[in-house]
Amino acid sequence: MTAHPGLPAVGRPTADLLAELAALTAADLPTRGGRTAAYVYDSGRPEVRAAAEQAYLAMMEVNGLDPTAFPSIVALERRVVGATAARLGGDDATPGIFTSGGTESIILAVKAARDARPDVAAPEIVVPVTAHAAFHKAGAYLGVTVVSTPVDPKTFRADPALIAAACTDRTVLVVASAPSYAHGVVDPVAAIAADAAARGIPCHVDACVGGWLLPWLAEAGAPVPAFDLSVPGVTSLSCDLHKFGYTPKGASVLLFRDEAMRLRAYYACAAWPGYTVVNSTVQSSKGAGPLAGAWATLQALGEEGYRELGRAALAATTLLVEGIGAIDGLTVLGAPEATLVAVGTDTGLDLFELADESRARGFFLQPQLSLDGLPANLHLTLTGVSVDGVAELLAVLAECADAVRPLGPPQAPDDLVELLREVDLTALDNAGFAALLPAAGIDLSAAEPRMAPVNRLLDALPPTVREAIVTRFLSALYSPHLG
Ligand SMILES: Cc1ncc(COP(=O)(O)O)c(C=O)c1O
Repeated sequence: MTAHPGLPAVGRPTADLLAELAALTAADLPTRGGRTAAYVYDSGRPEVRAAAEQAYLAMMEVNGLDPTAFPSIVALERRVVGATAARLGGDDATPGIFTSGGTESIILAVKAARDARPDVAAPEIVVPVTAHAAFHKAGAYLGVTVVSTPVDPKTFRADPALIAAACTDRTVLVVASAPSYAHGVVDPVAAIAADAAARGIPCHVDACVGGWLLPWLAEAGAPVPAFDLSVPGVTSLSCDLHKFGYTPKGASVLLFRDEAMRLRAYYACAAWPGYTVVNSTVQSSKGAGPLAGAWATLQALGEEGYRELGRAALAATTLLVEGIGAIDGLTVLGAPEATLVAVGTDTGLDLFELADESRARGFFLQPQLSLDGLPANLHLTLTGVSVDGVAELLAVLAECADAVRPLGPPQAPDDLVELLREVDLTALDNAGFAALLPAAGIDLSAAEPRMAPVNRLLDALPPTVREAIVTRFLSALYSPHLG
């Protein structure tokens, strides 16, 4: 007997299945309306969503594994890559790849850079510490060492001199973010790329979150520094469409300055007796739904649509940043150049409690832990629909700040912190790990689990222990007998 029913003896009607999905998603964070300030991007336009949905469904069964069998995917990918390149300093001839997301684009950019240097036995990439975790993942998957450099502690921008100083004859790529996810600031791309070029090292710009936002903000009059392929020395750039392109998930574009680099991102295998494999992406078989959904969204919104959404997101950000400044104990970290905001504290408020309080009042803010002297904070991504809710969000944040002020600064239980530093988590099974959770104040069975105890604990531990704990946590979460 399994705890959860598996396959029914006979097929079930669609209405029944959709009702079950509705019940399952009832406790999820809302994906529309702008109250979930991370993970989701809502254009707020039902007709755009309908276009994406129908295009997605129309191409759902097409397999991107073989572009000669399904020429439609080549035509669509050329259009989507071409539209992206045209906005980001390239043109019709700019080589690109449509991928499933930012992480896949970044893995492929690192693979291309690594494979361009077969002479380097132990390749390294140099990144600012604020670079997205996807670079560490790429390093781990591809056997490339990630060399992390500090950022300016006030502006949170990468320091070109420190990046240059970290480059060696093993460096195959340097990275800049436009903007960084964590603080929403644009690294000095021109200086980083120029230094790299002078050393003969390629430079990747991670514009996963900003690539389809910054150009529209610039048009709306925001001061946006140059960050794209038009900057000398930038050799590749990633731009996610499933973020500020407002497309269905599974959509990112990786652009290269030259064809030779794109070739190195590709993979081919004829060393088996089945069909000869040649892939542009990590995925092999893949539905064409995300590609069609992305294309349809771009077409349905058009330049005017994106311009309006960009303007609205910018207005929301300006209001939020001003309003945060007026709440006792809260402050904005750095000077965000996009529409991503990191809210910190200047009086030691427990931001993790504040996030729980805010979630209970209908607004999800994403906790970000402290690292290497960079303070913990709460992340908000503001989109085109956020502006309508900013006044309410600010009122909620003020109320939450009042509620958590008496608690003082976050304090993790010392004995548990010590225990977790010492214990070998790999020696525990899921049940053993789950048994530790109540001691940390964590109740997974609660309808809306309070995450503050988890975040306080993680924040008090070094990154390697954090990684061991969250990995264990994931395994426990997916263990049916514990759920
Ligand atoms: C700057 C940046 N790079 C990379 C990524 C990774 O993208 P994905 O979650 O689509 O893999 C993100 C996601 O937020 C991001 O903001």
